[in-house]
Amino acid sequence: MKKSETIFVCQSCNFQSVKWLGKCPECGEWNSLVEERARKPARNGFALREVSAVAFNDIEPQDDLRVSSGVTEFDRVLGGGIVPGTLVLIGGDPGIGKSTLLLQVADRLSGASTVVFYVSGEESERQIKLRGDRLGVTAKNLYLLPETNLEKIFHEIDRLNPGAVIVDSIQTVFSSAIEAAPGSISQVREVAHKFLLLAKNRGVPVFLIGHINKEGSIAGPKALEHIVDTVLYFEGERHHNHRIVRAAKNRFGAANEVGVFEMTGTGLMPVANPSQMFLQERPQNAAGSIVSACMEGTRPLLVEIQALVSGTKYGTGRRMTQGLDQNRVSLLIAMLEKRAGLQLIGDDVFVNIAGGLEVDEPAADLGVVTAIASSFKNMPVDPHTAVFGEVGLTGEVRGAMQAAVRVKEAQALGFKKIVMPASNVAGLERLLGIRVVGVRSVDEALAELF
Ligand code: TYD
Ligand code: MG
Repeated sequence: MKKSETIFVCQSCNFQSVKWLGKCPECGEWNSLVEERARKPARNGFALREVSAVAFNDIEPQDDLRVSSGVTEFDRVLGGGIVPGTLVLIGGDPGIGKSTLLLQVADRLSGASTVVFYVSGEESERQIKLRGDRLGVTAKNLYLLPETNLEKIFHEIDRLNPGAVIVDSIQTVFSSAIEAAPGSISQVREVAHKFLLLAKNRGVPVFLIGHINKEGSIAGPKALEHIVDTVLYFEGERHHNHRIVRAAKNRFGAANEVGVFEMTGTGLMPVANPSQMFLQERPQNAAGSIVSACMEGTRPLLVEIQALVSGTKYGTGRRMTQGLDQNRVSLLIAMLEKRAGLQLIGDDVFVNIAGGLEVDEPAADLGVVTAIASSFKNMPVDPHTAVFGEVGLTGEVRGAMQAAVRVKEAQALGFKKIVMPASNVAGLERLLGIRVVGVRSVDEALAELF
């Protein structure tokens, strides 16, 4: 064997080396290099085709070609339905509902003239059938194949000529052209690449299910995200009944779009009014709770932010967050101490988003600040008041995008007052049933709220 035929590949960042190393010089991971056989040049190669550029104006818009998955919230998170020829990666913790969701989608997609092909390397036909019965799957044109060998899978695809393909999961499938273990970065990339070609050449959508490993990324992590068109992640915890699916990347729609589902005894049901769901267990007149009007993708979402401020048993107070960026919250706490005179240094401060949601936008700042102040002062905020706005380091309240959409969502859910950036108020003063109060600083906001 020639020396160059063996390479060592870092399973964490895909760094390649001709000799084994204990520590990856690229990402610093220990013991992550695994011996793999260098890939032989593909035999079918890339034959030179005649190519010619197309005029921009001659290209037909594709949007009307989208196909509904039959599951409204899944359509939404994809950007308005399934684009033919698209490769979608769906990631999430074990047991969160990936197989359930995709089996439901498979059921709805299959039809008289559409064969749906569901490959499972994780479960037997009987196990899938059992789940399908529970979900009320009746599809006549849904075909299951428990198989992990990529070449055998493609053989069946050639025979069945499906209109959609689901692979559960990408980590279990291996190509015999590569001498690496299933789930290794080279295998996962190779398999994903083959499905990409399938999707593009045949114009069928392919859904790859991927497990998230303990580091929180899909095995063969970043390597897959750039190969696929769309990356969807299940978010939050299994302990809640609802499930949130977020588009982390989407070549055919808005990133950050979320789909909200409820896990029931008969599968995942789309939640028509997520704001209502996230607020339904909200305590009334409790200090430390405030409703913030957030944007998740293109949709407004009212969420409850909770804070608990309590005297620390240690020297300096701890700051802990759930569903929010901890550094951002620390920064807001420092701002509250300096600009609003709240002495929090000897207190533990816990902040979370109720319902296991993750919020990652600066417009949630004012909600965080209000919740902390409310708990600190032990004074509840009026339950019919909502807030939003970015807070700067000098305590100024800055404008947020989509202000009108947020206010209208609060109005629709029966809120009577919204405290928001003064710079966003124009045009919203005359909305019926809700009083819009613009503020320029955190001081002004707190004066208005307490
Ligand atoms: P599953 O789709 O198998 O998760 P994943 O493929 O992401 O590992 O979901 C498994 C969980 O969902 C399991 O704990 C049972 C629950 N479940 C329901 O609550 N209702 C249902 O109708 C189904 C099919 C599953
Ligand atoms: Mg599964």
